[in-house]
Amino acid sequence: MKSITSLSSDFLVIRGGRRLRGRVKVSGSKNASLPILIASLLTEEPCIVKRVPNLLDVKTTFELLNTLGAQVHFEEGKAFVHAQALNSYLAPDHIVRRMRASILVAGPLLARFGRAVVGMPGGCSIGARLIDQHLKVFERGGAIINVKEGYLHMEVQKIKPVEYTFEVITVTGTENALMFLSRCPKRSVLRNVALEPEVMDLVEVLRKMGVEIEVEGRTMVIRGREDLAGFEHEVIPDRIEAGTLAVAGFLTGGEVLLEGVRIDHMGAQIEKLKEAGAKVEILGIDRVKVCGDGRPEPLEISTAEYPGFPTDMQAQFMVLCTVAKGISHITENIFENRFQHVNELQRMGANISLRGRTAIVHGVERLSGAEVFSTDLRASASLVLAGLIAEGTTTVRDIYHLDRGYEGLEEKLNQLGADIERVKDANTAG
Ligand code: EPU
Repeated sequence: MKSITSLSSDFLVIRGGRRLRGRVKVSGSKNASLPILIASLLTEEPCIVKRVPNLLDVKTTFELLNTLGAQVHFEEGKAFVHAQALNSYLAPDHIVRRMRASILVAGPLLARFGRAVVGMPGGCSIGARLIDQHLKVFERGGAIINVKEGYLHMEVQKIKPVEYTFEVITVTGTENALMFLSRCPKRSVLRNVALEPEVMDLVEVLRKMGVEIEVEGRTMVIRGREDLAGFEHEVIPDRIEAGTLAVAGFLTGGEVLLEGVRIDHMGAQIEKLKEAGAKVEILGIDRVKVCGDGRPEPLEISTAEYPGFPTDMQAQFMVLCTVAKGISHITENIFENRFQHVNELQRMGANISLRGRTAIVHGVERLSGAEVFSTDLRASASLVLAGLIAEGTTTVRDIYHLDRGYEGLEEKLNQLGADIERVKDANTAG
């Protein structure tokens, strides 16, 4: 396995004003890959995960699996994970701090070994991001949880079946609960679950391993088994990367053919693109062409759980609204602090004001290049999009956020005709 890249301060220099044209293949989903890779902890048998994107959060997940004692091999998008025997139940603080999704190891470790010690995931830049719902499911299943020296110490003798109604809809909370219950043979019921395609992809994997899961509306009924099998699975396409590339094509007045997508996962985004004036041609379940011409129409966007408009696309669509022909309103309902791109977009000439959870965006004729800083993953994608349409040159700093969640975004954009240069941090170059 390649060595793990340290956090770099590489930056991107974007010369705006190029129309994007051509075809591009969308990568496998980051947020589906992470729980699926971690699900391999549930079995002694080897597991193969295909179409895994080569990005920082995936490498962090490999590092975490390695730390626990699993064998990992990654080659050309194919991950081989074998957790035959583990030598640790501890997800160290320094990894959890880098990637909050590390909390996902708790469910499988408790299910298989009855023990897990996980660094306490603190707040993060987009919001408090609590994990109380994960812990409530573990406790209902008989786990005893203590916090000692910044670590969550969890133990369970024998997992009891659980009936639980989530108080908020949570993606990783649902995933952790499913993995926790997957070796319990008695019937458990989870209500008010998340139904994001990434959650359903994990459900598919757990079924391949031998877990019975019925899904009806927002209710899941789970019957696990102790001897879970290894699996081979290809993760779903990344609907957020696809959406980001679609917005790029539209905004630059270009013509972009996205290949290897799942149109049925992109409904809310496609609807908003059409409302904004994009020409969207669906060429099959896995191919869509997006064309743009002229300034976008203003939009009303309100983020919601799937199948609603994804919070992970809010920042990218805000860029579209900054140059729209009128006033747009964007309400963020999932995270309480996911507007940090607003300040940076203002530096580029955007006219945005915030009222509580709503951003009011007055469209301007054009943005102008500036030096801007990434604050989180999707915010950094929005700054890249802004750079593509801005007059002059934009420098996007702190792009390790971008590298956490996109597989070669600037390479894909360049392949479509963008002019983006990555300048290596002197300390990590080479
Ligand atoms: N929440 C609670 N208690 C909990 C769990 C969540 O109150 O126990 C609250 C959160 O504070 C938040 C809301 O519920 O306000 C939704 O959070 P959720 O748990 O669904 O988010 P997550 O599982 O931590 C995943 C994705 C995020 C994505 C969100 C929402 C992964 C690894 N991460 O996070 O992806 O924004 O679901 O769809 O799957 C990204 O890729 O950029 C990203 C942030």
